[in-house]
Amino acid sequence: MMPLSRRRRVVIFAAFLVCSVALPAENGADGWLRYAPIQNQVTLRQYAPLPGKIVALGSSVIVHTAETESVRGLQSMLGRTIQVESSLPAEDSFVLGTIAQLQPQFPGWHPPALKAEGFSLATVHEHGHTYWLVAGADDRGVLYGAFRLLEYIAEQRDPASFRDSESPSAPVRWVNQWDNFDGSIERGFAGRSIFFDNGSVRPDLTRVSEYGRLLASVGINSCTINNVNADLRTLTPEMIRQIARVAEAFRPWGVRLSLSVDLSSPKVVGGLSTFDPLDPQVIEWWKKKTDEVYAEIPDFAGFVIKADSEGRPGPSQYGRTPMDAANLLARALKPHGGVVLYRAFVYDHHLDWHNLKADRARAAYDIFHPLDGKFDDNVIVQIKNGPIDFQVREPVSPLFAGLRHTNEAIELQVTQEYTGQQHHLVFLVPMWKEALDFDLRADNRSTPVKQIVEGHSFGRPTGGFVAVVDVGLDTNWLRHPLAMANLYGYARLAWNPDTSPQAIAEDWTRMTFGNNPVVVRTIDSMLLSSWRIYEQYTGPLGIGTLTDIIHAHYGPGVESAERNGWGQWFRADHEGVGMDRTVSTGTGYIGQYPPQVAGIYESLETCPDSLLLFMHHVPYTHHLHSGDTVIQYIYDSHYDGVDGARTLLSEWQSLRGLVDNERYETVLALQQYQVGHAIVWRDAVTKWFNRMSGVPDARGRVGNYPNRIEAESMRLDGYSPVDVTPWETASGGKAVVCQGRDSCSASTTLNRPAGTYDISVQYFDERNGSSKYQLLLNGRAIGQWSGDNNTFPSDRLDGHTSTRFTLHGIALKPGDVLAIEGHPEGGEPAPLDYVSISPQSAGGSKSAGGQP
Ligand code: GCU
Repeated sequence: MMPLSRRRRVVIFAAFLVCSVALPAENGADGWLRYAPIQNQVTLRQYAPLPGKIVALGSSVIVHTAETESVRGLQSMLGRTIQVESSLPAEDSFVLGTIAQLQPQFPGWHPPALKAEGFSLATVHEHGHTYWLVAGADDRGVLYGAFRLLEYIAEQRDPASFRDSESPSAPVRWVNQWDNFDGSIERGFAGRSIFFDNGSVRPDLTRVSEYGRLLASVGINSCTINNVNADLRTLTPEMIRQIARVAEAFRPWGVRLSLSVDLSSPKVVGGLSTFDPLDPQVIEWWKKKTDEVYAEIPDFAGFVIKADSEGRPGPSQYGRTPMDAANLLARALKPHGGVVLYRAFVYDHHLDWHNLKADRARAAYDIFHPLDGKFDDNVIVQIKNGPIDFQVREPVSPLFAGLRHTNEAIELQVTQEYTGQQHHLVFLVPMWKEALDFDLRADNRSTPVKQIVEGHSFGRPTGGFVAVVDVGLDTNWLRHPLAMANLYGYARLAWNPDTSPQAIAEDWTRMTFGNNPVVVRTIDSMLLSSWRIYEQYTGPLGIGTLTDIIHAHYGPGVESAERNGWGQWFRADHEGVGMDRTVSTGTGYIGQYPPQVAGIYESLETCPDSLLLFMHHVPYTHHLHSGDTVIQYIYDSHYDGVDGARTLLSEWQSLRGLVDNERYETVLALQQYQVGHAIVWRDAVTKWFNRMSGVPDARGRVGNYPNRIEAESMRLDGYSPVDVTPWETASGGKAVVCQGRDSCSASTTLNRPAGTYDISVQYFDERNGSSKYQLLLNGRAIGQWSGDNNTFPSDRLDGHTSTRFTLHGIALKPGDVLAIEGHPEGGEPAPLDYVSISPQSAGGSKSAGGQP
């Protein structure tokens, strides 16, 4: 431990730093750990009894972190100096330590029973002094307890309530990062890797330590730092040495490092002639390699395996099973206390779509269920929440109930691969909570998913929770400032899956945006409604997300899911839609559930509307439980979803001045964009189903856009019309592009009644290039913008790149001439889709954005 005098100086210097900065920068870098100074004197007074001294018992680096973090948080929030002591002072103080260390000091204190990594907060009175104990079952428990204490203060809770004992639900509370050694991140949407760059571990790992801090604050105890599609260099001696530096950066936060590894490593890296899991040389290779890893990283947590999936090599190559491969690695890890997380995301992506019995959803159960009971004790089968792939709505995987004698972990996805990629606000905690609460009724008794993965339902010793997070170098970690609620919320559920989404939203908002009740209420409402809204304007009724599933998984690409080997089919034809997964006439998938659940899904009478098209193929005219026909519901829900996105925007706009300007403007721009992109989604999906079904929208909206002027029907100077693919992602299936010229223009003479309007220009902003645009009214420039966003994942005109620029409150009269001038740049041909002129929306300001 640092000598007392030096530590004291550090603390005093830290206090000076805190005092000399007026307000912490609100750029999201600290996530929910802002420790905002409490301004309100009444609130501050309630914390007056808190002691000004702190001591950490023992010499653990993790407990030392708990102490440093406590000082940082207490000083920042309470605005007073906290004195660090090296031994228990004869004064009121915070005392941090494990139960074993604290008990001899406080013989009169009776600590509660805690599971590993649990903690207890208590006050004890000894020798006339009050000691505020942060007691851990072990070192990590102390750290988690310290963070909980700081959370209580950040939320301005009454100190009388600082008595708490908690233990985590399960030992595995991991995050996976899908980072590549070149610094890119698979399905990462917030900048480049914090770990790797250009084939090596980054020299500066400051962000890794900061990530460790965020993870530790919510009880995450391991981070897998590389892509599940693992680089073959992962286990080279040089890379292991480099990766050890990452483990070091995490270590003070109690976050153990883990790695994804490629099963062909013994052959490709080790030079053996085979990677057959039963080959003695292969067994020996893994043993030696694992020893080598532990020599560099003594607290290494384990391996994550993706094999026989999406082109990754695997045991099937040698006629072996996942059990053979998992146990091979488990045995190499066992002497060191490590575990194998073997992913159940194993399926054939060359399925025959002609075969009505073929079904990707069946794969995990078909492959893993027969192996139940054959996995070693330090193997955990890591199962995605649903049987397909992180869609906006899926049933829970039946495999959770299909493994009674095997450890299981649920895999969730914080990075919003299929759910708006952190351009859209989608708080996923309510979705995860539904999955965790879902009662699979194994053996006709209560077996909710959460209790299965915790190990309770089937008496398994090890299990838990994994989430794919993919934070990046962006200052705010995940791009959308509100997306951090997903990381926080995931961890809270992993710690205690009985926590309600409401409580999680509220805690996160208080810590992230402060305790103003209007702010808290408004952001909570936005968070809690957002998943449903996204589902409404993307893929309702369990149909799947309806995104472009081949490439970016972002914007609409309805047909991309059909007629290929990937098996994300929804089998729409002119008569009906949906995958028949029934036992009686379909793929039999429903029969993988325990009988009580299978019974509910099998019958149209009892199958919930929200999963209807996942389970059944029905005519468009089929009536839902709600009374609507399927086709009308598809139309209505997309329009409702856009209204919902508008509500999110106006809720956020109501917070102007109540949250800091920097984050206000960032979220505002995203919510405006979301409204515009929700319209792209709505129109694409409704037009597609309208064409496929031939059934008109009873409310006359689909295909009828009276406020629009198509670019291809304007007077074009230099612009030429092109067909857009997929057709449904452009209004009228066409756009105009400016090619071979420095600038082009499209103009039109307006015939609207005189009045005030909002004008939106729908255009395409490709990842490449940044075209410039100008909007002119009667020759006078009224707005300009550039298509310079390089985060929309496409270089083409399609559902990923379609976006809009909006001006609010523009006075127009008949005969006015509206023109758009486009200047192509960097290969982007200043593409335009349409102009929308709609009566001014309430509260509209004269700013660019997505309001229609
Ligand atoms: C999805 C995702 C891939 C990822 C895979 C996985 O299919 O699109 O990028 O590799 O899941 O979970 O392994």
